[in-house]
Parts: sequence; C-alpha cells; structure tokens
Amino acid sequence: MKNTTIKNIGILTSGGDAPGLNTAIRSLCLTAKKRFNANLIGFKDGYIGLENNEYVNMMDLDLDKMVNLGGTILGTSREKPFKNQTINPKTKLSALDSIKETFKKNKLDVLVCLGGNGTNSTASLLSKEGLPVIGLPKTIDNDIWGTDESFGFHSAIDVAVDGIEAIRTTARSHHRVMVVEIMGHKAGWLGLYSGVATNADVILLPEIPYDIKKIGTFLKNRKANGHEYSIVVCAEGALSVEESQLPKKEFKKSRLEMTQSISFRVAKEIEAETGIETRTSVLGYLQRGGEPSAYDILLATQLGNATVDFIENKEFGVLVAVKEGKITGYPLEEVEGKVKNIPTNEMMLQTAKDLGIYFGE
Ligand code: F6P
Repeated sequence: MKNTTIKNIGILTSGGDAPGLNTAIRSLCLTAKKRFNANLIGFKDGYIGLENNEYVNMMDLDLDKMVNLGGTILGTSREKPFKNQTINPKTKLSALDSIKETFKKNKLDVLVCLGGNGTNSTASLLSKEGLPVIGLPKTIDNDIWGTDESFGFHSAIDVAVDGIEAIRTTARSHHRVMVVEIMGHKAGWLGLYSGVATNADVILLPEIPYDIKKIGTFLKNRKANGHEYSIVVCAEGALSVEESQLPKKEFKKSRLEMTQSISFRVAKEIEAETGIETRTSVLGYLQRGGEPSAYDILLATQLGNATVDFIENKEFGVLVAVKEGKITGYPLEEVEGKVKNIPTNEMMLQTAKDLGIYFGE
C-alpha cells in the first residue's frame, strides 16, 4: 500500500458519451483502491450531479463487468456550470458554490472529469477556482486539444467503416452516389479516417470547404470512366466555400435554420449537378454506441491507470494526455476553448490525396 494523503476521489463523465468511459473508470478505481485504498465516488450525470451532490460509491458497482461496457455507467449531461448563471433549484446556490459545497461535504482530494472539449474547459475553470481537478480525454471526434489520442475514436471508426462498407454494396447494385454522413461537427477526423479506411471517392470535412461544381465534375468523370457508383463520406460539419465566407454568427444561424442535416443537402446538390441518382445515409448515434474496440479498451485502461499516478503526485490542473506515444500531463488551461482540427499537413490527409480521394476543394 502506498503512502499518500489522498483519500477521497470524485469522478464524473460529461458531454457526449463514448465507448471506453466505463473501461477508464474501472481502471482508475481498481488502481486507486489497490495502491492506497482510496474512497471513490462517482457523480451522476456530469457536472449536474456534482452540483447536486448526487453520487454512487464506485466500489458498490460491478467494476469487472465495466471493462467492455459501452456508454457511461455514471450517466452524462451537457451541463456547463460556468455558463449557467441561475441559482441551482436544489441547492439554492450558484452552480459554482454548489460544486464547492460538494467538494467540502465529501472532503474531495481530487475530482477526475472524463470528457471532451467542453468538459475539460469546465475542468480548467474549476481548477482556476483553486479546486484540485484532473481531466481525462474521451471523444469519438478525436478533437481534444493537447492530446494525440482520446478513447472512443477508434471504436467509432470501426462502426463507421462497417456502415460505409454495407452502404457500398447497395450503392453498387443501384449505380448510385451514396452520401454517408459521419459525426464530427467541428473537426473531421472520424470522416477522414473512416473514409480512407473504406477507400471513399469523396470526403467532405469541416476543415476543407467544398465546391459543389467541382464535386459534380469529379463524379461525372468517374462515371464516364466506368465507375458505376460512388461513395461520398460527408462529415456533419462539412460546409461549402460560400458558407465558409460567411461571418461565424450568420453561418451558425443558417445551420440552425436547416431542417435536415448537411448530407441531405449535399445529396440534392450532387443529383442536380450530375443527374446521377443520389441517396443519403446518416450513421448517427450508432457511431457513439456499443462496446469499445480492443484498441480503445487498452487505451482507456492505460489512461485510467496513469491518472492515478497524477493523483498520487498531486499533479492537478492537467489533462492526462497522449503525446508522441507517451502519457503526459498537459495544462488544462491550454485546452480550454480550443478544438484540435485536422492540420493541412496531416499525414492521413496527404495519404488520402495521393490515393486519389477527392476533398471537393
Ligand atoms: O460526442 C461528440 C458528438 O458525437 C459529435 O460528433 C456530435 O456532433 C455530437 O456529439 C452530437 O451529440 P448530442 O446530440 O448528444 O448533443
């Protein structure tokens, strides 16, 4: 048993769920229990459970069943305590004061927040308030600033690849263009990786505004060259060149006014440009659900385990990040408010272009 003054550890999951959350929690709990007999509590439904002091004792859960269980056993929400300026109806305090009370009541030595950009931005703000906080990166979007990897991403790629491959057979039978919508509002990693893994013909990403005329020409040429069908992978956040020139506010407004997601519009535009029958398929929440892949189980297990090292060393205010194959603490304040987009020199992007995949630019 290690000698440490750390006794009470709080855990929460916040933001969109991702495969691997339960795996990471399990690893963290088992490690902290074994190393220094920590008392571990898990707050329900993200930051709202922290505000309301609603928790479960982690050792009451069947941790071993959690190794490959999808979703999050703690529940999640998109509660943002620093945006929410109203008084919490349960505690009659502000969100921040409610959280401070929860820390006091449970004598929390540290809070581990598992989540994406929003979650880690809140964790950073809590840290700036002097609270001992550690962030653990999860997202299927792979867009968390400061870490090369986050669990959930590889599981989502596997699902997306299965989906795209299934759509390929019906595209081939009907000689259609199929537009497959893949998650990723702000960053297109999932679209890029699943598109390359399935040898898509066109990939549309938030990072590369598309020109519909050029996509039309590309697809017509494919047909003229004997390709009877085409697969277009379209990220949720794909946008046209014209849209990319709009002021941010106007762009957001126009997106809110859309009654269907982007892939439906892209399909209509393609059909109008090419005259080829075009259909849409939105893979949606399938990509976030289900069991983690073996890769994500291993990554989440390592990250959960490494989090306990940071706890023991009282290294707070950090994201437990992966950098060039090593686990390292990355300052949460550096993560705050940022998104890791696909850089223009991204290797996978260059590879895709060399293979002839078209990005509509
Ligand atoms: O978890 C990230 C993400 O899957 C994004 O790709 C997607 O845009 C978003 O969450 C949708 O989440 P929700 O509908 O649950 O808010």
